[in-house]
Amino acid sequence: MVQLYVEKLKNGLIRQFMCAGKLRILEKSILTSDTIQFIITLLRHPIVEKYPLRTSYLVVIIRMLSKQVEIEEHQVCDHDIAYMYCRYARFMLPQPAGPIFYKHYILDDDIDLKPGLTIDSVITIQETATFVSDGTTGLCTWEAGVALGVWALRNKEKLQGKFIVELGSGTGLSGISACVNCKPRKYWFTDCHAGVLDVIKNNIDINDMVHTFNCPYEVIKLPWENVQRSERFDEEKPDLILAADVIYDRTMFESLCTSLKYFAANNTTEIILFSTVRNPETHQKFLETLERFYLEFTEEILPDNYSMIIEQNSPIHITNIKKRNVNTYYTF
Ligand SMILES: C[S@@+](CC[C@H](N)C(=O)[O-])C[C@H]1O[C@@H](n2cnc3c(N)ncnc32)[C@H](O)[C@@H]1O
Repeated sequence: MVQLYVEKLKNGLIRQFMCAGKLRILEKSILTSDTIQFIITLLRHPIVEKYPLRTSYLVVIIRMLSKQVEIEEHQVCDHDIAYMYCRYARFMLPQPAGPIFYKHYILDDDIDLKPGLTIDSVITIQETATFVSDGTTGLCTWEAGVALGVWALRNKEKLQGKFIVELGSGTGLSGISACVNCKPRKYWFTDCHAGVLDVIKNNIDINDMVHTFNCPYEVIKLPWENVQRSERFDEEKPDLILAADVIYDRTMFESLCTSLKYFAANNTTEIILFSTVRNPETHQKFLETLERFYLEFTEEILPDNYSMIIEQNSPIHITNIKKRNVNTYYTF
């Protein structure tokens, strides 16, 4: 029983650490030597050495570990402690703002991991520290994007054989998960921002070295306001439109809904949006905009414990959208 608990704890710890998530265990308890040793092993992990996590995150972890090592007489290998201080001491000095760093997402809760986890369970993503940088929100991965990536992994049959277009792909995590874990017929990563499109390409290259992409894919500039005019869909309409965290700015609702209406006009195209509902009023406004565009929707809420690596401070909604049946009316 105790062994099971320890394994579960370590499994969570690996996943949270690799994507720079909150390590709650470091905040509350005095750690066992075994757990400290385990975290140091993670700090030394070859993936983390090659694609480092954000410096400020590492600083917090090292400080907490140092405190733990100092308070308790831990049986941690001196060599490992020395390594930790040597390797990371420079991080304790003030760092220049905004360097590139990486997060490593282990989307599958079911695989049993050891610190020497094989690289094929990990999707590595280049990120920036701030939610908005270079005039876009697309250079870091959002919770709903992680949720979409996990959902793709758990709903392979929904994606299999489909031509999928993802709107506002951001760093590309969800799409990379879909391409690597499922077998779509074709996957288009799209966004409006040139810097974001470069990051998607880079993230695809990083993961292409260790994963098999199971479908042809493209990275395409596709602003929502241009979808109707685009000739991209003349030949073939997508089977599935996916998007994560695209409902946050009311000024963009019209253009987003114009593009959704365009896709929904094709009765066989399914539309699924993942959204973290931080502001219920904004979300409600979006649903009202759908209604004005003659689109109907159903919503479900993801369970709080959907994945070990998602910190859900606000609920994540899945919205299915289609062309309104003439007999359907909403009252808000
Ligand atoms: C909050 S981010 C979400 C990114 C990613 N889907 C995720 O969940 O991590 C919103 C994304 O939508 C893109 N976006 C915003 N306005 C857009 C527009 N008018 N046309 C196309 N993409 C847009 C941004 O560039 C950004 O990548």
